[in-house]
Amino acid sequence: MKQMSHIDHDIPSTPGKFKMEKSSYMNRIRWHYSSLAKLTFWSFVLFLGLILVFFFKSPTSTSSPLPSDLSRRSLRTYSWGGPAWEKRVRASSRTRSRNGLSVLVTGAAGFVGTHVSAALKRRGDGVLGLDNFNDYYDPSLKRARQALLERSGVFIVEGDINDIALLKKLFEVVAFTHVMHLAAQAGVRYAMENPSSYVHSNIAGLVSILEVCKSANPQPAIVWASSSSVYGLNTKVPFSEKDRTDQPASLYAATKKAGEEIAHTYNHIYGLSLTGLRFFTVYGPWGRPDMAYFFFTKDILKGKSVPIFEAANHGTVARDFTYIDDIVKGCLAALDTAEKSTGSGGKKKGPAQLRVFNLGNTSPVPVSDLVSILERLLKVKAKRSVTKLPRNGDVQFTHANISSAQRELGYKPTTDLQTGLKKFVRWYLSYYDSGKKSAQ
Ligand SMILES: NC(=O)c1ccc[n+]([C@@H]2O[C@H](COP(=O)([O-])OP(=O)(O)OC[C@H]3O[C@@H](n4cnc5c(N)ncnc54)[C@H](O)[C@@H]3O)[C@@H](O)[C@H]2O)c1
Repeated sequence: MKQMSHIDHDIPSTPGKFKMEKSSYMNRIRWHYSSLAKLTFWSFVLFLGLILVFFFKSPTSTSSPLPSDLSRRSLRTYSWGGPAWEKRVRASSRTRSRNGLSVLVTGAAGFVGTHVSAALKRRGDGVLGLDNFNDYYDPSLKRARQALLERSGVFIVEGDINDIALLKKLFEVVAFTHVMHLAAQAGVRYAMENPSSYVHSNIAGLVSILEVCKSANPQPAIVWASSSSVYGLNTKVPFSEKDRTDQPASLYAATKKAGEEIAHTYNHIYGLSLTGLRFFTVYGPWGRPDMAYFFFTKDILKGKSVPIFEAANHGTVARDFTYIDDIVKGCLAALDTAEKSTGSGGKKKGPAQLRVFNLGNTSPVPVSDLVSILERLLKVKAKRSVTKLPRNGDVQFTHANISSAQRELGYKPTTDLQTGLKKFVRWYLSYYDSGKKSAQ
């Protein structure tokens, strides 16, 4: 066993704690060598760090080009490229008719992305998906959606929208006519837990997409998902596209608002045709587990209590719930009416289309009514716990004015909450009650 000498005691564990004046000459020598050893060690660590930075920054077909200050999920590596991969990319993007669209759908393994991709493919358009399959919610649900799309001939490339080399490659292989940009970090409350993931996907990611689109030749037209959350703390209802959007209630909302301003810039400077869609609380089969209608269903079935938020003075919290099929019709109509971008090779040639539309249902429903409908459909009484609406991102109500989308897109939602939830519950029970999966 090692004997502890007083010299050992005098050697500091951290340099700042060392008291020079009390030490002997020998101590000084030992300290000198120990400092040298530490200096060598830290130089080595620094050197290793520099190598890693260089490695992650260099373009390669197995790439993770992401800044290291971002979410832990963004540090994953993806492999892409090669003749077989390019063949799959081309086949998936091929249109069935001469004037069909060839669409790059980002966030294709997500809730809305899956439905939009399937609908485009069904009508004969070429569709290529892109998704990083992050674990914000159960990735196995994303994989199941991927399998669904694969059966209808849609290939989802696994990668991050910040991967410029990958995006460039995709545009080299396919001359996409349109980009349906749905990839984003969704959810208002999670922004307090992981704010950088919102900056990464909703701001930096959007800029990456627009940078590559602006340089593409021909430039595609872009339709992308903004959000009703940009109306923030507004009290005038219904929310109109002409209303102010400068008081967001969450970082999520702020990143979507920033996205709208960024879209304006790329339209103005580069002639990109850009359409932003402000979705209002989308729900339906294959939905998102972090949304109330989804986890209320899970909790009611498990006999757990369901939090029903109440605003100040017993104010009702309500949402303009919009069924996924209505949203899909709005997305397709936005793609179909999108004019061509006017620039080429990064240069603007003339003014281009710039639009923003509300896609909602125009009939807000109190959250307590949502629970009543679920109780009837599930045939289980919910344990309700009325809770004060926390000030962490949620707003008291949303209500869309859709006259602009009606006029210009022919958008007309047709599914009420009762009908839509019935379809959701049927899907939920068959997906989770098959015994193979359990809702996380
Ligand atoms: N569902 C709604 O109620 C709603 C409401 C308003 C706005 N939106 C917007 O609509 C879009 C689609 O929403 P959703 O409900 O389908 O969400 P979702 O989370 O199910 O889908 C988003 C997909 O994008 C992927 N993704 C996230 N960051 C990425 C990145 N950096 N690179 C590549 N892929 C990435 C995720 O893995 C996910 O599969 C989002 O932009 C969202 O902000 C949705």
